[in-house]
Amino acid sequence: MKYILGIETSCDETAAAVLNEQGVVMANLISSQIELHSLYGGVVPEIAARRHLEVLPFLVDEALAAAGIRPEDISLIAVTCGPGLIGGLLVGLSFAKGMALGLGVDLIGVNHIEGHICAGFIEQEVEPPLICLTVSGGHTALLVMDKIGSYKVLGRTQDDAAGETLDKVARVLGLPYPGGPHLEERAACGNAGAYPFPVVHTDNPYDFSFSGLKTAAINLLHRLNQTRQPFSSADFAASFQGAVIKTLVDKTVEAIRTTGVKKLLLTGGVVANRELKSRFQKASEARNFSLYYPSPVYCTDNAAMIAKAGFLSYHTGRRSDFSLRAEPGLSL
Ligand code: KG4
Ligand code: ZN
Repeated sequence: MKYILGIETSCDETAAAVLNEQGVVMANLISSQIELHSLYGGVVPEIAARRHLEVLPFLVDEALAAAGIRPEDISLIAVTCGPGLIGGLLVGLSFAKGMALGLGVDLIGVNHIEGHICAGFIEQEVEPPLICLTVSGGHTALLVMDKIGSYKVLGRTQDDAAGETLDKVARVLGLPYPGGPHLEERAACGNAGAYPFPVVHTDNPYDFSFSGLKTAAINLLHRLNQTRQPFSSADFAASFQGAVIKTLVDKTVEAIRTTGVKKLLLTGGVVANRELKSRFQKASEARNFSLYYPSPVYCTDNAAMIAKAGFLSYHTGRRSDFSLRAEPGLSL
């Protein structure tokens, strides 16, 4: 094993990364499309795919240069094959297949959610079994990881993902896309107890449902607006963000209690949120479990996590062949 190239194009970040043979990150480049999509208030799949196509070849060249290696030094290419937007996935996958075929090296398809989980192994040693909570713009999943490649999903969202909900409510508040980080900023000096939000129940206690919470928030905003009541967007942002985080913490703590697994790994874009980490930190002290999460750069979409997942899977003997397909609805 020499170097591993990771490629990520499943949503609105074109990303390429290089790891060395020990799995250490040598280069991690991300070309964000936020500016392109902010005009529309969300990701436009067709525009995203076209931009991936334009950017990816140059970004891979830059990643190799940043790592100080040549294409011939690569021995494995790891690429996101799902879940995600079909156009973007096809761009990444076609590029990775072409390059692997040209170089005569191994190819490995990575599930994007497994990629997020493996971000937790980039900067620290964590020994499974673990409870993993992955919260991003497209996914909310609570699972037990026994080892690399072995996951038992306890629950997932029944409708919107946590990040998607934050983004939508932020948009109604007039904040730019993607709203999660802007909502966090607005919430920083707000009172989280100012506005009450309902607790949403699900049949499976580990499933999530954010759509009702989102509708309650939007209806409340409209009501406040129509009746011209005094309104603090900071208080509203803090209350809504607090309600989303409370759901995530409560269900995860319950999973830790019932499974007896005393280590928790948080991953995905929403984990960049400082309030979320602080609430989980408090829970870990109160409930006596160990808490792990990656640096913000490895929380949001990146290719180092895809390369890391490919590297770890490769060492369990997994390989993909050239029949590897893009699967927008791929589950773990
Ligand atoms: O993991 P990610 O980059 O992409 C997906 O796989 O979906 O996650 C993006 C999501 C967006 O919803 C964004 O608003 C949210 O992560 N996000 C945050 C923060 N930074 C990113 N949400 C809350 N607070 C943040 N600081
Ligand atoms: Zn993601």
